[in-house]
Amino acid sequence: MPAFTASAPGKIILFGEHAVVYGQPAIAVPVTQVRATATVTPNIGGKSGDVKIIAPEIKLESNLAALPPGNPIGSAVNQVLTNLKVDRIPACTLKVTSTIPVAAGLGSGAAVSVAIIRSLAGFLGRQLPNETVSALAYEVEKIHHGTPSGIDNTVVTYAQPVYFVKEQLIETFSIAKPFTIIIGDTGLPSPTKETVGAVRAAWEETPFVYNQIFEAIGNLTKLAQECLIHGQIEQLGDWLNENHTLLQEMGVSSPQLDQLVIAARDAGALGAKLSGGGRGGNMIALATAENTPNVSLAIRSSGAINTITTQVNT
Ligand code: MEV
Repeated sequence: MPAFTASAPGKIILFGEHAVVYGQPAIAVPVTQVRATATVTPNIGGKSGDVKIIAPEIKLESNLAALPPGNPIGSAVNQVLTNLKVDRIPACTLKVTSTIPVAAGLGSGAAVSVAIIRSLAGFLGRQLPNETVSALAYEVEKIHHGTPSGIDNTVVTYAQPVYFVKEQLIETFSIAKPFTIIIGDTGLPSPTKETVGAVRAAWEETPFVYNQIFEAIGNLTKLAQECLIHGQIEQLGDWLNENHTLLQEMGVSSPQLDQLVIAARDAGALGAKLSGGGRGGNMIALATAENTPNVSLAIRSSGAINTITTQVNT
């Protein structure tokens, strides 16, 4: 059995985070500059059933059987073995690496799962359809997030822009004009599970207020999709700004995120907002070809530890 490698991109949410957990639509795009990669190599002469796991970035080196229950890497492996009805996998080593920042709203957990699922299936001589890859990664997402909407595993699996509604068939769509997004990292880790849990607690306390915010975000997302389909990029900037205001009202922004958002707008960005779970992690700014360097510099000068410039293509 030859070695098999697979990789998956990061992602950003353009519109609709959190509201998507409550049935509203969201729009997400892949970020191909950062990736998770998994390679499965046969261990010739090893005992069948033995899977060695190596993930240098998180200093993990262990046998599959020794991983604690609920370990996301172990869960991704077991999801594949169960789905493919493999009782005893040939002895092998699974190596996982990733350039996607963790707990930053860039879909690192989902990308790692998708890379593992595809590499292991490939090693076993099988090719899983995207629908199955995404469904298996979703099972692992539940460990990371508690009550995930499924948007991260979907966009990372299909690696194309998606208009996503929970529990509905995935909808990909064409973007009329390419545009540039600058991603600014606050450097503050913020596990999605925590922010999703905080929003749930607040929603349970004042459902009326939160349902209104979710609905307003859902309406913005629908308007944004129209802008994307018709190439109305300037208008898209206004909707990003409005989405950020609604996320502030939801309580998931933070002084650091607001600071980066304001710096981006002051430097000429057409719009800016936090992206992902919030509180820390990343923000995004929509820039023009002319002001991309300025916006990126402004975000870094205001405290971002890193920026990534990504082009969303037609
Ligand atoms: C996380 O990337 C996006 C959230 O909406 C959570 C989810 O959809 O599962 C915050």
